[in-house]
Amino acid sequence: MPPFRPAFTRRAILAGGAAILAAPLVGCSQSTVPVAGAPPAGRLRETRIGGQAITLTAQEHPLTLGGRSGATPTWLYGEELFPVLRLKRDESLEVTLQNQLSEHTSIHWHGVRVPNAMDGVPYVTQMPVKPGENFTYRFTPPGSGTYFFHPHCNTSVQLGRGLSGVLIVEDGDPQYDDDVVVVLKDWRLAEDGSFLPFLTAEGAGRSGTYGTLRTVNGMVAPEIVVPPEALVRLRLLNLDSTRVGDIGFQGADASLLAVDGNLLAPQPLENWRLGPGMRIDVAVLTPAAGGRVSLVDFFAAEPVILATFVAAGAPPRREVTEFEDRIAFSEPDLSGELRQLRLSASAVPTDYAGLAPIVLPDGSTIDLLDSLCSTSRTMWAIDGKPWPQNGHEHLPPPLLDLKRGQSVQIELVNTTPHLHPMHLHGHIFKVLSSSKLQRPLHWADTVLVMPEERVQIAFVADNPGNWMIHCHIIEHQDTGMMAWFRVT
Ligand code: C2O
Ligand code: CU
Repeated sequence: MPPFRPAFTRRAILAGGAAILAAPLVGCSQSTVPVAGAPPAGRLRETRIGGQAITLTAQEHPLTLGGRSGATPTWLYGEELFPVLRLKRDESLEVTLQNQLSEHTSIHWHGVRVPNAMDGVPYVTQMPVKPGENFTYRFTPPGSGTYFFHPHCNTSVQLGRGLSGVLIVEDGDPQYDDDVVVVLKDWRLAEDGSFLPFLTAEGAGRSGTYGTLRTVNGMVAPEIVVPPEALVRLRLLNLDSTRVGDIGFQGADASLLAVDGNLLAPQPLENWRLGPGMRIDVAVLTPAAGGRVSLVDFFAAEPVILATFVAAGAPPRREVTEFEDRIAFSEPDLSGELRQLRLSASAVPTDYAGLAPIVLPDGSTIDLLDSLCSTSRTMWAIDGKPWPQNGHEHLPPPLLDLKRGQSVQIELVNTTPHLHPMHLHGHIFKVLSSSKLQRPLHWADTVLVMPEERVQIAFVADNPGNWMIHCHIIEHQDTGMMAWFRVT
């Protein structure tokens, strides 16, 4: 069990912060964005892209991870793990994906309510970006938040090899003394640094295949220097394909600020069950210089220290301003009927032959999926329907056909003995209630459904297009627990 921590409320944050300081803050956000050279120890390189076009080259690049004897043939956007792109709210993004991999790929902007044509799902929102080809993503994120991006076919392999990055849309609040991105990801590595199989029959049919090396920002238990006696914002992202953590802190009070990038009234954080695809933003009051704060996963019997924040340097001197609680989503109308979606195991392939082809946002129509985007083994289903199996490569019919502006209430019913972090594209939903895991009312794009649990969510279908709904345990996604819905 984690130790008891006193409540760390909104009032406490403001009072605690205010006690620290005096003069206005000068450019604290710049400090986390190095211009050149290596990023500070334990941190990822960050790039400010507001209004400025950039290229991400998907490529194989050897890296040594976790002190393995040989290099690991990672797949990266560029030459470093997890590029962090930062925008300010209302700034536009223009990213050209250049594919130098040996297979097709795309970029999905997880959690961002993008126009459908920018959602990066091969055969559902765009054609795959083949080796040697480019595709340019252009949109203005509609709200602030902590997001990430990754490919969307053969994801076990592509994400398993590291292909992913972080997108931060800042809410423009200057009240933090530091802002640290913390990416959790395990790696399926042999002793010589080569990759072990990403998808195994035993793993895919159960809770997924776990990595052999746990990292934070690509490092094993890194130490990350933060200012002392300061209010620090940590953005925690679970980019692992499999592992669910109970994430908490030792050595400092922490307050939950946002779930999946969506601000909520700050509340004390004990620990948060963070499944693949999920994110939380946390404020931590750091100790005096020399003090240490541990980021801990309490999920297993033995808690695991994932990273340590070391307070060093001079305390900041500045004014703390109010939090801006900004929930800019349409409130769903909860008077309608509740639609159940059952998450289940499946052995029966469905024959989708003879269905009408779907029309992509660019007007092209597609009929058949290829082997990277269909599964060779169906193990899971949503509502009894698995994503197509090889040999049945027609896209299945939409799970839901929704009218634009319609409120939708869904009960996710987990009939399996495994956890499923369920993710919806293009929309943010309100998590209304759940039968097992306690959680505050919050907005999310991914919600963990515990074994045998029922979770009720609701949203307004306000973004037209073809959108995915799937489990973010990638082996479940890649073996059938995937569907799509249409908003017209
Ligand atoms: Cu993060 Cu459909 O995915
Ligand atoms: Cu699952």
